[in-house]
Amino acid sequence: MERPQHLSSNVTKTWDKLLSFSYFQELPHARGYGYGGKIKEIREKEFSRLGDITYLDHAGTALFPKSQVENFMNDLTGNVYGNPHSQNISSKLTHDTIEHVRNRVLQHFNTTAEHYTVIFTSGSTEAIKLVAETFPWTPADSGEPGSCLCYLSDNHTSVVGMRMITAAKRVVSVAMKPEEILLKSQAPPEKTACSTSHLFCYPAQSNFSGAKYPFTWIEKIKLGNLMPISVPGKWYVLLDAASYVSTSFLDLAAHQADFVPVSFYKIFGFPTGLGALLVSNKIAPFMQKRYFGGGTVAAYLAEEDFFIPKQSISESTDSATHVDPLRRYRSPNPISTAPQM
Ligand SMILES: Cc1ncc(COP(=O)(O)O)c(C=O)c1O
Repeated sequence: MERPQHLSSNVTKTWDKLLSFSYFQELPHARGYGYGGKIKEIREKEFSRLGDITYLDHAGTALFPKSQVENFMNDLTGNVYGNPHSQNISSKLTHDTIEHVRNRVLQHFNTTAEHYTVIFTSGSTEAIKLVAETFPWTPADSGEPGSCLCYLSDNHTSVVGMRMITAAKRVVSVAMKPEEILLKSQAPPEKTACSTSHLFCYPAQSNFSGAKYPFTWIEKIKLGNLMPISVPGKWYVLLDAASYVSTSFLDLAAHQADFVPVSFYKIFGFPTGLGALLVSNKIAPFMQKRYFGGGTVAAYLAEEDFFIPKQSISESTDSATHVDPLRRYRSPNPISTAPQM
C-alpha cells in the first residue's frame, strides 16, 4: 500500500508505523493469526521480498510463495512438455499432468469427476462469460416462455456483464438486491411442465462488501422452494466463488451449485491468467458450444462443413463444451469456399 504524498512528516511516521508488520503483530487480534502460528517463519522463508511491508493478502490476489515459483521453474526446466493434443511421449506428459491437476482441483472442492467437470479458463471472468455464451437460454420470441438471467446487485462486474451477451440472445436480465431475495416467500414448488431454463447468479463472497451469502439458496432455488422471479421453468445457480475460495473452503459435495467460476491466482498467487469453471455434470451436456477449433476438435475438414468435437466435456470446452462425439457436425452458418476465378 502506497503512502499518500501530501501528508505531514508526523502523520507520515504514524502511517508507516501502522503499515509495518511489527505493528500488526502487536495487535490483540493478530496473536496466533492464521498459518498455524508459523506466520513469521513462513514469511521469512517464502516472502522475504516483503521486507517490512504489510500486505493485505487475498483482498484481490494472494502473494505467491518463493518455493512455488522455484518448483515451477524446476518442473519446466527438468521436463519436456509437448502440445497436449498430439500423440507422443512429451505430449502425453502434458496431457497426464493436466488431468492430474483437474483431479486435484475436484479434490480441493470435495467433489469428483462423477459430479463435476473442470473446464480450465483464463480466470473467473472467462468462466462466467462461457456460462453466458453456452447456457441453454430460450429467447423471449421463441414461442415458449423466455429465459431469465437474474443476478444479485452485489455481484462482480464479470457477472453483471453477462447481461450484454444475454440481451443479444433476447433473454431478459434482472438485478436483485440481497434484501429482496431474503424477503422472497418460501413457497412450495408448483409442478410445471415448462422446460425453460433460468439462471440465478450470486457471489459466495462479495468482493465489494465482503458479505458472505447463504449456501442454502443453492438448493432452495434449484428445488423451486425459493424463486428469484416467479416465472414458469427451472432455475439453475451460478455461485461466483472467486473471492470466497481465496480464504475459505468450498464444499461442493454439500453445496451443489450448477456453475462455479474460480481464479487460481486469488488462492495461491501464481500464475495469473488461469482459472476454471466447475460445471455440474447434470447441466454440462446441455451447454451450447458454438466454437470448435484448436485442441477442442477431434477431426475436421477445412473445405467442408464437417468436424467432430473432442469426446469429453472438459477437452471439448477447455475452451469448448460436450456434445455427442459420434454425431457429425454441421455449423449453423455453412462455410463458403473461395470464389472460383
Ligand atoms: C467475486 C469475483 N468474481 C469475479 C472476479 C473476476 O476474477 P478475474 O479477474 O480473475 O477473472 C473477481 C475478481 O476480483 C471477484 O472478486
